[in-house]
Amino acid sequence: MSANLIDGKRVSKRLLEKVKKTVAELSDRSGELPCIRVFRVGDDPASKVYVRRKVQTAEDCGLVSREALVPNAISEEGLLKDILLAVDDDECHGILVQLPLPERFDPAKVINSIDPTKDVDGLHVANVGALWSDQDGFLPCTPLGCVMLLRDTLGNLTGMNAVVLGRSNIVGKPMANLLLAENCTVTVAHSRTRDLPSVCRNADILIAAVGRPQFVRGDWIRPGATVIDVGINRIQAPERGEGRTRLVGDVNFDEAVAVAGAITPVPGGVGPMTIACLMANTVTAFCRIKGLEVPEGLGI
Ligand code: GUN
Repeated sequence: MSANLIDGKRVSKRLLEKVKKTVAELSDRSGELPCIRVFRVGDDPASKVYVRRKVQTAEDCGLVSREALVPNAISEEGLLKDILLAVDDDECHGILVQLPLPERFDPAKVINSIDPTKDVDGLHVANVGALWSDQDGFLPCTPLGCVMLLRDTLGNLTGMNAVVLGRSNIVGKPMANLLLAENCTVTVAHSRTRDLPSVCRNADILIAAVGRPQFVRGDWIRPGATVIDVGINRIQAPERGEGRTRLVGDVNFDEAVAVAGAITPVPGGVGPMTIACLMANTVTAFCRIKGLEVPEGLGI
């Protein structure tokens, strides 16, 4: 048996087409374009790639996008000032600060300096609170994208056992909440969980978000389960030649594909969904700020 591949590129393309069409309509109607500003600080090579992709995709959708040019040596105070300029700029509707930030920054302080109405990444404490109390806010892009993939693959998720492996603020915790909202029975497992393999084997839906390459083994997976691999890890790939690397997820794909019913590949699974959801959230932010009705199909 070999699992069905969950095609994040296909599902994200559908969402991006909706975003593109909506941006064109909004532009005709209001004469303005939604704009996202992306802040990246430091030299993290993966962040550079992710931010470039976000800015490029925004442009492909007709959004105005700008990577804020942040000097490497900027202080926390300097960054907060720059974010405030974007908060006060009526022509900017979405703000994102790429994580991780260098050690000298307090990420909570930086994220909470974004106005929640422009926090299209859904990480501001007000948006976290909104999520946990069923109020309108912004949903974090990766968990949102995962739910879209699950609905596309499985339809109604009611009553399913979902295991979320990982408890980060950016994925694990919001993911657990969204699955609860889909009427799943949710277990959040983590590095201190006793007997992880047997906890995982209980999952109809397994979300792997631990940030450890190929951590989840094939025999942790219930036959026929749906596996969503959030991990993006770069590992050495000597089989491709000296010094070469490749991307792998948090799941041992070759083992898992023989057991699971459906699985996301890495790359091409969750990654494209995260970016597409960021675009959708930015259009939603624009509509809310302008007092326009938010079109159907941009969220869940
Ligand atoms: N770093 C890795 N994923 C993300 C994300 O979804 N948002 C932000 N801001 N930083 C990230």
